[in-house]
Amino acid sequence: MPQIFPKKANVLPLLSLVGSLVGGVVLIGLVWYYFSPEFTTVGYKPEQPVPYSHELHAGQLGIDCQYCHTNVENSKHANVPPTQTCMNCHNQIRTNSPDLLKVRQSWANDESIQWTKVHHLPDYAHFSHASHVNKGVGCETCHGRIDKMEVVYQEEPLSMGWCLECHRQPELYLRPNDEITTMGYTQPANFVERNLERIRDEGIQPPSNCSACHY
Ligand code: HEC
Ligand code: HEC
Ligand code: HEC
Ligand code: HEC
Ligand code: HEC
Repeated sequence: MPQIFPKKANVLPLLSLVGSLVGGVVLIGLVWYYFSPEFTTVGYKPEQPVPYSHELHAGQLGIDCQYCHTNVENSKHANVPPTQTCMNCHNQIRTNSPDLLKVRQSWANDESIQWTKVHHLPDYAHFSHASHVNKGVGCETCHGRIDKMEVVYQEEPLSMGWCLECHRQPELYLRPNDEITTMGYTQPANFVERNLERIRDEGIQPPSNCSACHY
């Protein structure tokens, strides 16, 4: 009687087991790659050269965002402060702290601190802080509770869909201009109605045409 399954067939289960293991590893690798913070960027939290804490300075000490990020109202880019701004206080406070060594060196050598950028848009997408901040979009809406971050990380996706979600319904997000840097903003009664009124009065109309953001 001829063997229907030759002896070799015994390796098949083994092969398919190995195959599925390898496949599984590749799959895990792909999922890892595509969903890890560096790729999707939500949660991206690079190490900084100085252990500067927003939780301490903006949270506990209550220093306003614009004391350091001075350009947000009049420029496309929100600047990171020069060493001079740190030295306003640290020429007197904690002058011997090892955590501030790089700040003192930067000051002494007149070389700026090389902070690592956290938030990135691709070059083909245009964004301006001034256009948003002056129309009532708060830092918190796009960056989250910075005042609770020991180390800054990316809270929101900054994807096209995310931008458009607000552009289509800005009334769900705007706040009075004097609350722009407020952290933990609580919406007043009639929040949406007030915003709709402001949107009408000021003719606020966030664009959704492609060329507004891609040019
Ligand atoms: C005393 C100065 C100071 C104050 C006050 C301050 N920041 Fe910063 N901020 C910095 C420095 C320095 C960096 C760069 C290092 C880092 O990312 O932590 C930075 C980084 C950031 C970043 C990340 C920028 C990037 O690389 O993408 C955001 C967002 C930010 N700050 C928002 C805020 C907000 C919102 C407030 C107010 C609640 C605030 N900051 C208050 C000094 C300050
Ligand atoms: C509508 C969303 C939005 C608002 C509101 C906003 N930011 Fe940003 N912020 C961004 C995006 C997007 C980037 C990345 C920009 C890029 O890569 O071109 C960014 C980058 C930054 C940076 C890094 C420097 C730069 O310009 O790339 C700092 C610092 C910063 N924001 C601080 C602030 C502060 C402080 C406020 C409030 C006064 C604020 N942002 C309000 C979306 C926003
Ligand atoms: C308005 C004053 C003020 C400014 C401006 C300021 N700091 Fe501070 N910083 C403080 C105070 C107050 C402390 C807490 C000191 C303590 O715990 O006794 C502190 C603590 C620190 C510490 C921790 C030091 C330690 O030994 O624990 C670091 C690091 C630091 N600051 C970095 C910076 C950097 C970088 C800048 C500029 C981007 C900056 N600070 C701007 C007031 C300031
Ligand atoms: C939470 C709300 C909100 C988010 C999030 C938001 N925007 Fe806007 N955007 C606005 C408002 C409000 C205006 C002002 C419209 C006006 O002045 O009529 C605006 C205006 C603009 C403009 C036109 C003004 C200019 O600077 O040319 C562009 C372009 C723009 N946004 C791009 C973006 C991009 C890119 C993103 C995402 C990275 C984004 N916005 C995220 C609310 C938002
Ligand atoms: C409000 C601003 C805004 C508008 C309007 C806008 N985009 Fe985008 N777009 C973005 C941003 C921001 C990104 C980058 C997204 C990222 O990095 O994840 C992007 C990314 C893209 C990409 C790259 C692929 C992707 O999805 O990441 C394409 C293609 C694109 N946009 C096409 C368009 C077209 C076509 C339109 C008009 C129908 C349009 N965009 C309108 C902000 C905008």
